[in-house]
Amino acid sequence: MLTGSSSFPGFRALSVEERRRRIAEIAGLEGGALTRALETGGLDEGGAEQMVEDALGRLAVPFGVGLHFRINGRDFLAPMVIEEPSVIAAASHAAKRIRAGGGFMAETDPSIMIAQIEVHGVRDAARALTRLREATAELIAAANRAIPSLVERGGGARDLAVRDLGEGFVVTHVHVDCCDAMGANTVNTVAEALGDRVAELADGELGLRILSNYCDRRCTRVTARVPVAAFGDDTTDGPEAARGVALASRFAELDPYRAATHNKGIMNGVDAVVLATGNDWRAVEAGAHAFAARSGRYAPLATWRLVDEGTQLEGRIELPMALGTVGGALRAHDGARLALAMSGADNAAELGQLAAAAGLACNLAALRALATEGIQKGHMALHRRALAEPCGPVAP
Ligand code: MEV
Repeated sequence: MLTGSSSFPGFRALSVEERRRRIAEIAGLEGGALTRALETGGLDEGGAEQMVEDALGRLAVPFGVGLHFRINGRDFLAPMVIEEPSVIAAASHAAKRIRAGGGFMAETDPSIMIAQIEVHGVRDAARALTRLREATAELIAAANRAIPSLVERGGGARDLAVRDLGEGFVVTHVHVDCCDAMGANTVNTVAEALGDRVAELADGELGLRILSNYCDRRCTRVTARVPVAAFGDDTTDGPEAARGVALASRFAELDPYRAATHNKGIMNGVDAVVLATGNDWRAVEAGAHAFAARSGRYAPLATWRLVDEGTQLEGRIELPMALGTVGGALRAHDGARLALAMSGADNAAELGQLAAAAGLACNLAALRALATEGIQKGHMALHRRALAEPCGPVAP
């Protein structure tokens, strides 16, 4: 938990060293910890060797912080790792506007991951489903015997579901509560431990045993409200900009071509937090896009509406969020551990809420810019500054 506010006036004007000092202060981190860890990109060569095979070194990517995040009445700092200019600034800007409306409200499902055990060549699928359902207690007990340390921490297999996919394919899902771990290894252990018995019960040939990244039982939902009157600035009318955001949301709802770009903007924020905290962003991406297509038509992960007689702009995001605050890359990666410590998130649910809030904030910022002055003015100004390209200096 942070010891101070995540709102800092004038943060950008500070030197990098001074920013680190201020962040360490409110995150309750020891003074030089950020500097020491970030000097090696958060990972030394030994750490890199520990994480992957045939390592050659490490490739640095900028690490920044999204400010002003307030979720369920508590302050958070969003650690963000991303190569694209303007995303962090946009996230902070939007989080500031949302803070003016009371901040983000968030809720999270239990950390249920799905172990899939696929059996093919099943001649009587109806009989297989019945036999598997009848063996639920036996299979859950066997799953829990395979993962004693998770069971000790309060997690474990909770339930079983069986599906007939046709063409002789029967798939068994074991729902495993992974607590504060992402859980991939644990869930794969369960899938492999149950494989032979599941194939025997289904009377077919054992196929794949692996987690599903479409973890739709592990969703995070975040909502936010911005008073329309506070949505303007010197050059933009608040109600007009808010109406533009609501129309942009409808456009994404009506058109998968637009929904893909809308969701890319959301994942700018989500992935940046996921990556900073050493989590598997490909898993989160896979889950997010599968979820976006759950109705059979690819749809936006976040939507915006004018509510309360047009006085409030209300946004909502929902997506699967398989994150860990223990295990995985956090074991070897000093920078990821520090990013997690500075975020103020005390568990996987809170970290998921922060990532989803960063996604919703980036979406609001993108839609507001697109619906008013266009994206290029602010975005490209930051691009030119970042790349110092030969079109001359950028106006301050
Ligand atoms: C660019 O990284 C993201 C945007 O294209 C998102 C959007 O169009 O909503 C600006």
